[in-house]
Amino acid sequence: MTTPAVEFFNVTKTFDDLVAVNDVSLSLPRGKTLGLIGPNGAGKTTLLRILVTLARPDCGDVRINGHSAIRDPLMVRQMLGFMPAEFGSPRNLNIGEYLDYFGCLHGVSSKERPKRIREVCELTDLTGREQVMVKGLSTGNRQRLLLAKTLLHDPDLLVLDEPASGLDPRARTELREIVRTLASMGKTIIISSHILPDIEDFSDRISIMEAGRLVIDGGLNELRETHASTTRVVRIRVPEADWDRAKKLLGEPAEIESVRERDHFIELSTNAENVNFTLGILLEHDIRVLQFAEDEPSLEEIFMRTTAGKVT
Ligand SMILES: Nc1ncnc2c1ncn2[C@@H]1O[C@H](COP(=O)(O)OP(=O)(O)OP(=O)(O)O)[C@@H](O)[C@H]1O
Ligand SMILES: [Mg+2]
Repeated sequence: MTTPAVEFFNVTKTFDDLVAVNDVSLSLPRGKTLGLIGPNGAGKTTLLRILVTLARPDCGDVRINGHSAIRDPLMVRQMLGFMPAEFGSPRNLNIGEYLDYFGCLHGVSSKERPKRIREVCELTDLTGREQVMVKGLSTGNRQRLLLAKTLLHDPDLLVLDEPASGLDPRARTELREIVRTLASMGKTIIISSHILPDIEDFSDRISIMEAGRLVIDGGLNELRETHASTTRVVRIRVPEADWDRAKKLLGEPAEIESVRERDHFIELSTNAENVNFTLGILLEHDIRVLQFAEDEPSLEEIFMRTTAGKVT
């Protein structure tokens, strides 16, 4: 069996009384993309910082291509590129100088650097902007530059912490395309976000964290099947005169979760076996049911059901 690109073994990290990462184990094969999702404060950044050797866990181990990030941090750093959530780098340079500076820090030789800078600018769509000052960059271009910097030493593993944060819809789509290109080049990618649609369509695996724990970890299809086979989202339309009464009746039984209004429908979640029971309640109380439809939950809905926290 080939060694996975990334393995976490029972990793725990505390800050005083706070358990930021709680006994997390997971593994990612080479060439795959993992989407790490979780609400604010879930522990995503802490977990990624441990992976990229910027933080030490209290216990557990992390291995990259079989090498421990704790025992062998220098070797591990060569294998990965980390794009942090915050831009804390020197800004008084132009894009070309900035990339040259970080290329140098990453050990890319002065002979190799111009070629690598050209390649990463091409990949991140920064070609022709080498003279533009870093200081005045838009958020979109700043995120591209951070990503370009991450790619300079051509690492096999990319660790991207909320790369889409603060981007407008167009910039988000463009970033998604860049990540897709990198995945098709065979890179192993871990990408965190608290916005599920940003990553669900290109992640091979999804790990959901909440309060330091990994609450869901699996292949995307596997995840959908496990949850979709047991859960239904039911959309119901009733005459306006019966609307309040129907909502109240549906809100009472413990079998029905989260009754809400959406686009002139009453929408609720329930287990697959309770769908008929839901319809029965309305019929029993002589409420005319104009429309009744059941659906499998989207990944977003699975996420909301699995984590008690709020997605922002
Ligand atoms: N250096 C630190 N000292 C003390 N507490 C910390 C430190 N770093 C993180 N924490 C705490 O650990 C918890 C997890 O934080 P972390 O930044 O890993 O979450 P996150 O999932 O990345 O959140 P976000 O979505 O807001 O980026 C939070 O409660 C945070 O306040
Ligand atoms: Mg974070």
